Parts: sequence; structure tokens; C-alpha cells
Amino acid sequence: MAANGAVLTIDLDAIVANYAALQSKLGDAELGAVVKADAYGLGIAHVAPALWQAGCKSFFIATPREGVGLRQLLPDADIHVLDGLLPGWEEIALAHGLVPVLNTLNEIGRWSRLCRDQNDKLPADIQVDTGMCRLGLTPENVATLATDDGTLGPIAVDCLISHLACSDDAANPKNEEQRAAFADIAARLPHRRASLAASSGIFLGPGFHFDLARAGVALFGVNPTPGKPNPMSQVIRLQGRILQVRSVDAPQTVGYGATHRVDHKCRLATVAIGYADGYMRSLGNSGIAYIDGHKAPVVGRVSMDLTTLDVTDVPENLAQPGALADMIGSDNPIDDVAEKAGTIGYELLTRLGHRFQRTYVGGGAA
Ligand SMILES: Cc1ncc(COP(=O)(O)O)c(C=O)c1O
Repeated sequence: MAANGAVLTIDLDAIVANYAALQSKLGDAELGAVVKADAYGLGIAHVAPALWQAGCKSFFIATPREGVGLRQLLPDADIHVLDGLLPGWEEIALAHGLVPVLNTLNEIGRWSRLCRDQNDKLPADIQVDTGMCRLGLTPENVATLATDDGTLGPIAVDCLISHLACSDDAANPKNEEQRAAFADIAARLPHRRASLAASSGIFLGPGFHFDLARAGVALFGVNPTPGKPNPMSQVIRLQGRILQVRSVDAPQTVGYGATHRVDHKCRLATVAIGYADGYMRSLGNSGIAYIDGHKAPVVGRVSMDLTTLDVTDVPENLAQPGALADMIGSDNPIDDVAEKAGTIGYELLTRLGHRFQRTYVGGGAA
């Protein structure tokens, strides 16, 4: 038996299947992959090569440092840095062939000067803000830029990017407002590829597809269409190992703060997984685990390394020290667990810990 208490299984074939499913929805538009934050916690060293093999050519990461790491894995990929171009990042972009997503007029001006100095039309993306107030050019910046061809002239503008604020809510009128604003800007600024949709945006219809979609979370099995059945394949299975089982037949309380009271005969199993592993503390008294398909609710608080399950309804021979309990799996998929934790699948994925035994299956995984 492995010397780790918990096992995280990551199905690379499911990621590749999700890539293909999203690409087929896009028709002729291209599908890029967002693999920031270590591929949403799933391990960029495994995930990015599997996506490259599946035909993905354009990758988006957040920081130049992530870009440098990805360049080592994928020498020929298009790598786009969403965080932009802080002073000093130019050299990193040049040395590693990274495409910065320019978010301000200052960044555009500096990249333009660099292109002139290098006597080379270097590629860069431009992000425009159509309703997030987060990153990207304001409408005033766009107006300035659209009438100033001197600044953009030296740059090979690749992607013109914007990001949707409410794409997981298909009925929200803000989606169409942003789409129309983006189409208007795309008609005014030069670019090779226009890109608006992330995972959920792909499901808003062809009007949102433009030339390139940037999918992250849906590749990793999170439902991009909340409230409707999940069209994606489940990618992760998280199992915690039972360390100890006890029978309780007198009134007792469970865990820190004595937040769960047992006053009937029951069996409790203590599992080696806790909030230090990303099994969130908010799952105390709300999470549900499964052992061989049998339900085992989390009782008491989740502590750093340990979680207690009520295994009264699990056959005794299955709930034994060494046995594995599904904390996230086919009976309790990531979106359900996230909802019980009061968060979203994105946060659950990116908080997955590092002391699991990580097992990659499919995708040519070793
Ligand atoms: C600019 C941008 N594009 C695309 C994505 C991918 O989004 P999703 O994971 O919802 O597909 C993100 C994620 O945060 C983002 O910030």
C-alpha cells in the first residue's frame, strides 16, 4: 500500500475527450486551453502535453513564470500570458517566446517600442474590458488606440481578447451586451484572432465563438452549464484512506468544537484527508463521501489532516482501516462537493493539495 493517506486520480483521457467535445461545439473556431495555476491544480506537466497531443496549439497561463515552465514542456506552442506586461517582463517574453496579453495603453506603448528597437513585429494580444472592470483597455483607451495607428503599427496583434462576466448564466442580458461591445471593438482594432468565450461562453452559441475560445474549467470536468446536466466527462477522483473505525454506543461528540452529537448507536470512520489537502473546512457536517457506492456523511468539523465519516450504513467489511472513501467521485462529482462547501469547482480544483498519491490515467500517462 502506498504510504499516502489519500489518492487523487486524474483521467487525462477525460480531459482529451472534453477538449474534443468543446472543439466540436465550436465548429471552425479554434479551442485554446487555459492551464494557469498548474492546470487548475491538476498538474500542467501532465495536462499540457496531453492537450497538445490532442491538437491544442494555443495555451493561456497567468504569469510569465508559468509561461517559462510551459515553454519547457511545449517548445512549439503559442503561449499567452494573461497578466500582461509589467516593466521587466519584456525580457522574459522575448527569451521564452511568450505572447503577452497587453492590458493597458502603457503596456501597448512599451511593447510597440520594443518591436521598433528589435526591428521585429513581435506578437502580442490586446485585452479590452467589456464589462468586468478587471483587466484590459477601457472604452476610452480603445477610442484613443483606434485613432492612433502609430502605436499598433509595429506590433503583430494576435488575439483581441475580452472576458465575459456572467456566461454561466445564459439568460443574463449582460452576455449580449458584452458580445455586442466586443464585436464593435473587433471592427475597430486590428487583430489576427478575436476571442471572447471561456468554458461557459462556448455554450452561449456561435455568436460568442469568434475565432478562438479559451477553455479552462470545462476541460477539467466542471459543469460549464450550471443548472443543466454536465456535458463534460468527470476528470478527477479523490479518495481518502480510512485510518480507524470505531463503534459508538453511548452519547458522544465528534471532532473539534464538538459540533456533531451522536446519540444513537453508530460507526464512525476517520479518514486521512483534511483541509491541508484542499478538502475544505466548510465541508464539515455537510460533505458526503461514498464507500463502494454506500453513502457516508461527513460528521463534525474537517480538521487539518483528518475527516470523520458516519459509516453506519456502509457494510462493515467495506469500512475498514486501509479502505478508500470517495470524497469526490462519480457519486459525488466536483460541482456537488463544491456546492456543499459553499464554493465553486474552480476553487476546489485549485486548492487540491500536494501530499496525495497522484495517479494519472490515460493520455499516454506513465
Ligand atoms: C481571461 C480568461 N480567459 C479564460 C479563462 C478560462 O475560464 P474558464 O475556466 O471558465 O473556462 C479565464 C479563467 O479565469 C480567464 O481569466
